[in-house]
Amino acid sequence: MEKNWWHGKIAYQIYPKSFKDSNNDGIGDLRGIINKLDYLSNLGIDIIWLSPIYQSPFVDNGYDISDYRNIASVFGTMEDFKELLEKAKTQNISIILDLVVNHCSSEHPLFQKALKNPFSEEGSYFYFEKGRDGHAPDNLRSYFGGSVWEKVPGQDNLYYLHYFAKGQPDLNWTNPKLREKIYDMVNFWLKMGVAGFRIDAIMNIVKDTKFPGLPADDSDNLCACNKMTNALVDKTVPLLNELKAHTFDKFNALTVAEAFGVNDKLLPKLYGDEGCFSTLFDFAARQPYELLPGYYAFFKSNINNYRDANFATQKKVLDSGFICPILENHDEPRALSFYFEKEEQTPKTAKALATVFMFLRGLPFIYQGQELGMTNTCFESLDEFNDLLAYDEYKKCINHGLSEKQALAVLNEQSRDHGRTPMLWDDSLHAGFSEHTPWLKIHQDYKKLNVKTQNADDNSVLNTYRKLIALRKDARFVEIFTYGTFEALLENEDRIVAYLRSLNGSTLAIFANFKTEEYQIYHQGLHEIVFSTVKDNTLKDEKLTLAPYSACVCLTNP
Ligand code: NOJ
Repeated sequence: MEKNWWHGKIAYQIYPKSFKDSNNDGIGDLRGIINKLDYLSNLGIDIIWLSPIYQSPFVDNGYDISDYRNIASVFGTMEDFKELLEKAKTQNISIILDLVVNHCSSEHPLFQKALKNPFSEEGSYFYFEKGRDGHAPDNLRSYFGGSVWEKVPGQDNLYYLHYFAKGQPDLNWTNPKLREKIYDMVNFWLKMGVAGFRIDAIMNIVKDTKFPGLPADDSDNLCACNKMTNALVDKTVPLLNELKAHTFDKFNALTVAEAFGVNDKLLPKLYGDEGCFSTLFDFAARQPYELLPGYYAFFKSNINNYRDANFATQKKVLDSGFICPILENHDEPRALSFYFEKEEQTPKTAKALATVFMFLRGLPFIYQGQELGMTNTCFESLDEFNDLLAYDEYKKCINHGLSEKQALAVLNEQSRDHGRTPMLWDDSLHAGFSEHTPWLKIHQDYKKLNVKTQNADDNSVLNTYRKLIALRKDARFVEIFTYGTFEALLENEDRIVAYLRSLNGSTLAIFANFKTEEYQIYHQGLHEIVFSTVKDNTLKDEKLTLAPYSACVCLTNP
């Protein structure tokens, strides 16, 4: 595998609306991020991914872009962005942006022109189709509920396609002129000094333009559009290679794809030395939930599922390249709440989980607030949610016979808003995020759960993340953690996560015990604990004793 500049680094995702508000309008902004660069540098972060900062009507919180070359005014100006790039550079931090090119906003000037004349040049940048027998062209269901087709206002029988919200019309990638426009825009940011992109929903860009539909999978007579995407996924590769050749390749950009539903055979074409992206997020542990017909079918995950899914990926990607391990992102509930029962959602558990996460092979992405051990926020009524998906899923719950109380409980497990509540900086009003009431509820525990309090406690989750990141980058170990092999241990042991990372005869072993009682592990060669989340873990005669809900990293003798 060729070495690359981003190997051995640690990435951090910022959701700009919720990171830090500098002008006290209740919404995070770029200057807020600039003001917190020291915090990120001190944590050990090398790469920041910014969720969309472009101009947008914010139907889907910025994933609906109306101007790809300008900054949303709520976030600041282009000058602010350039300052952020520059100041980050002085701290050796690279910035990657979110590339959202499966769709744009219905307020984008090109779509506005297309709506006026769907048969114009601008119309050919989108998908317009005639209805069939008084119905939409096919029966696919959008990711956010309802048909993927919306009637064109003022037209009798003409629809436009939107796999996400109505305000997010899909771009027609079969049109080479549109592709040129996209490549130009990508190069505009790369020339400015952006180090790469996280690439949104990219496996959706190919459609079957006969729009045949699929057998219905629920009582609404529709079928989830991701089933069509998965069926066509191989066909995206030539387009993605073209995108890469015209843009990323020229700048040695880091590209991280959001790619669900990819089969194993396709993986080498998607990432690694020969792939169209640098790397992909590892969604394996969350994948079963993507396949559910709705939140109403939610079932609780657990640490064994997390382990099994991550280990399966680690084994799969061993030779072909790097993957990006994640615990959370802005589309997911908080990891502690997702994998653990209420009484287990403690700082101890957060630290043990952080340890098993941090040393997996790949480029780890930490999501804002994860480093504090944030849990889900308690939403007390439907109107406290912001996400459009929450409203659709609530309706689905009710349609499937759940009571209002049960539907609310489901959202309190599953909603994307759990990842989007403001960052908790201190114990003052609004958690130091803003002096104004924030756009989304502040976590109920902010008085104790915040950066200021955790900074002062050497044993906090935050300081544990700092130590883990420093250990991963320690000159003695960085090559092993970056390029070393992965070997799973004790895979069938309930609530134990254990693996080895080895390179050129040196091995580090990572062990975590999520049982309620102590656990002993004998492993030949174990000889020094280099990190432990608790003081009472001991190693004697190659026998490690792990306290409940604890983890450690050990050196082994060759
Ligand atoms: C994936 C993004 O992560 C999510 O937040 C967004 O709603 C969809 N793509 C549509 O862009």
